[in-house]
Amino acid sequence: MRLREWDPGLAPEAELRLWLDAYNEALTADLPHDPLWGMTSLRGYLSVTMPGQRRFSWIVEEDDTGGGTAPLLGVGTLLLLEGMGVIEIVVVPKARRQGVGRTLLAAAARRALREGIRQLGVEVIGGTTAVDFYEQHGFRWAYVEMRSLLDLRTVDWDHLRDMADGVVTGYYVEYHQGGLPESILNAYAEAKEQRRLTPPGDLELRPSSYSADRLRSSIATLRARGLHPHIVLAVHESTGWVAGLTEVVVPAQHPTRADQYDTIVRPEFNGLGLGRALKARMLLELRDAEPQLREVQTWHATENEQLQQVNDELGFRADHEWREYDADADELTKLLSDVPT
Ligand SMILES: CC(C)(COP(=O)(O)OP(=O)(O)OC[C@H]1O[C@@H](n2cnc3c(N)ncnc32)[C@H](O)[C@@H]1OP(=O)(O)O)[C@@H](O)C(=O)NCCC(=O)NCCS
Repeated sequence: MRLREWDPGLAPEAELRLWLDAYNEALTADLPHDPLWGMTSLRGYLSVTMPGQRRFSWIVEEDDTGGGTAPLLGVGTLLLLEGMGVIEIVVVPKARRQGVGRTLLAAAARRALREGIRQLGVEVIGGTTAVDFYEQHGFRWAYVEMRSLLDLRTVDWDHLRDMADGVVTGYYVEYHQGGLPESILNAYAEAKEQRRLTPPGDLELRPSSYSADRLRSSIATLRARGLHPHIVLAVHESTGWVAGLTEVVVPAQHPTRADQYDTIVRPEFNGLGLGRALKARMLLELRDAEPQLREVQTWHATENEQLQQVNDELGFRADHEWREYDADADELTKLLSDVPT
């Protein structure tokens, strides 16, 4: 096998297709009910990062490709953000247990160290081979979330309408897609700051701070990666504060399944049913704005009972555990010192 550092921003279209084929093969084996990915905006998805972040990518090919393009054996990335490195490694099913994963892991750990980063994290899907792989390499289990799925065919839309209408007086709700108006950015950033103060959560979505500027670039980044944002927010009329918000993105790579990102209700406005009303309104808006959509997926801490209750009422069903593991890049490179560079 041959490891090659790879730049998805400049790679020929044919190589992007090979990446896609490898990813979809793994998806079919490990998460057979997930929609396969397509090529739309794939280059942007794989190459664009938030300002201040950097992503390194590698591919593993067969030694002798006969001069042409052969299917990939595995792909890997290291995303550097906020003083840590987030690893993602996928090996095609027929090439597993032959050291491809180790080769990619060694490349990522060595690069992290070279860039001065020791803390490594990875999101591991419960019930897949990745659990054994990372535990075998000394990764420690840090945190667990549950992925839940909502099949839009099962939604009781009348009930949802009642839930969405249940906004207490003194608040109004707005829906935006593609971005946010300038006038609301500061208040929105302030509400998002609450989320930052209550980690942990999705590794890639954990910023150091929120500001209108950061939000602007975050929305621009989402769009450049093919992730179309939809936002529902509640404004507290007398103060102008954003009391709560919920965000969904519809990825161009798999537009039938949306990702529910943050749902935040500022602590001052807890207990008013805002989270429930916002999420219900979001689904109603998505039905009109994204008619191809079939499912919405969301991740939440298993101990977050309040959110769990809202999700249950909306019809979300628990699907897979998503575990976050971490490791020290220095220890890992020592453990993998036998892997050729
Ligand atoms: C996890 C993964 C990257 C491992 O890749 P791999 O190339 O098979 O790993 P390696 O051959 O380098 O394995 C190195 C060591 O890890 C451990 N390991 C790997 N897979 C294992 C498994 N299924 N069971 C037990 N141990 C395992 C073993 O110790 C192995 O060494 P050994 O084969 O000498 O016993 C691969 O299984 C994978 O891509 N899984 C996909 C998971 C996923 O996230 N899918 C959904 C999104 S597409």
